Amino acid sequence: MTKPLNIQFKALNAKTEDAITLFASDKLALGKIAKDYDLRSKKALTKSAKAAGFTGKSRSLAHILAPANLPASQVLLLGATPKKDVTSADWTKLGGFLANNIATKNAAAMSVIFDFARGEASADDIADFALGAYLRIYKFDKYQKPNGAAKKEENGGSKFARLTIHCANPAAATRAYKTRKAVGEGVHIARDLVNEPANILSPVEFASRVKALKSSGLAIEILGEKELKKLKMNSLLSVSQGSKQPARVAVMKWMGAKSKKDAPICFVGKGVTFDTGGISIKPSANMGDMKGDMGGAACVTGLMAALAKRKAKVNVIGIVGLVENMPGADATRPGDVVTSMSGQTIEILNTDAEGRLVLADAVWYAQEKYKPKMIIDLATLTGAVIIALGKEFAGLFSNDDKLAKQIKQAGIDTDEKTWRLPLSPRFDKMINSTTADMKNIGGREAGSSTAAQFIKRFVKDGTPWVHLDIAGTAMGSPKNDINESWGSGYGVRLLDRLVADHYEE
Ligand code: BES
Ligand code: MN
Ligand code: ZN
Repeated sequence: MTKPLNIQFKALNAKTEDAITLFASDKLALGKIAKDYDLRSKKALTKSAKAAGFTGKSRSLAHILAPANLPASQVLLLGATPKKDVTSADWTKLGGFLANNIATKNAAAMSVIFDFARGEASADDIADFALGAYLRIYKFDKYQKPNGAAKKEENGGSKFARLTIHCANPAAATRAYKTRKAVGEGVHIARDLVNEPANILSPVEFASRVKALKSSGLAIEILGEKELKKLKMNSLLSVSQGSKQPARVAVMKWMGAKSKKDAPICFVGKGVTFDTGGISIKPSANMGDMKGDMGGAACVTGLMAALAKRKAKVNVIGIVGLVENMPGADATRPGDVVTSMSGQTIEILNTDAEGRLVLADAVWYAQEKYKPKMIIDLATLTGAVIIALGKEFAGLFSNDDKLAKQIKQAGIDTDEKTWRLPLSPRFDKMINSTTADMKNIGGREAGSSTAAQFIKRFVKDGTPWVHLDIAGTAMGSPKNDINESWGSGYGVRLLDRLVADHYEE
């Protein structure tokens, strides 16, 4: 984890860093330089830009070193033609795009001059841009020596550490960025958790990292094996019984609404710190990816941290079920029957369909204990969702059309996309068991839907509920402008936006 990018906002006429980025249109209207320095600089700049083949088209770049008469040792021209229909997601992506380019230059600090000759950028636009830069400058490199060959090759030894944004109203931009930064930090927390190897990030270690978030303002409660047994979470416990690592359930509370009595939103996450498949063991190809099988729990943790850090005016509870799924003498056997906390019995026919066993008890516990106004669970639940939707869309399942629509829209606005897939009594039939109340697999067909239908059996009637299957999006998804890490932190910005748009006072 490289140090996060330090971002500050200054006035347009404040002293710049030694390297600057200018937004430039196709006409090369380099306003700031012309105004603050002299016209000769503008001329020199225009000439160099032309020589470099700079078009001024959106995202075109020209890198100019030590131009004569300029106060900076290097200037990066970034083509941008501000238009009215530029969305907040566009600004965020542009910030990421630029930050990545700066990181390849030999500069520890860069000033970006937000001084458009035409068009405007609001404080919110500028803060969105800054968030994109913050998100892109992330690297999980704690296990690489600072000057090791791998690291040098990977990041070109970038020293980019400070971004100074010069704009018309730095106070407003600073204010707007404060909430974005909280969200950015939440995304980084989620990425760190997903990227961390499973020999380090056991359920106990995950719980202790959750505990550390007390400093962000969250109230934390950790349930150990004794408590889980007492609560009769036998479904969840059946997953970890073959592992030396004991299970944990971590609960994070943020009561930011005016009335602490308002029913909270519960976010529930699957936290399988490693999924071997158990006795129904997985093939070895790519099994290492299963260190990320706690992506749902990572998202819930990052989200809760973000909401607390930005002091969201909402009551929210985050619950993560933390287990390791291992084969072993004590492991669950295919055919075993367990009684879940809800009282419903489950025939475990495939120990690799373990995520739903964790969620069954975690979701039930959430309702029993917190009487939530709605539940959103996130889980790297099925390989089938990757076959259906690929790695850019999470599968969305819901018993509530309004909530489903709200999340879909938040997905469009944050570019963390979702696609709704069906629940149906037909899928319920596929998980009926001849031995118990249900079985934990529904056959090859519609694997993501039968998994979702299974969880639905643990959601009480009348509770709005959404299940997000993030097996494709939480890790190993295509790299983009704002993320080049394996663990993406998917879901933090999506659900932060949902809360901000619909559930804050
Ligand atoms: N953690 C996996 C799902 C997964 C697969 C996540 C690939 C990310 C990438 C889950 O526990 C699992 O093994 N699901 C099985 C279910 C099956 C046994 C019914 C699957 O998808 O094959
Ligand atoms: Mn599994
Ligand atoms: Zn799993």
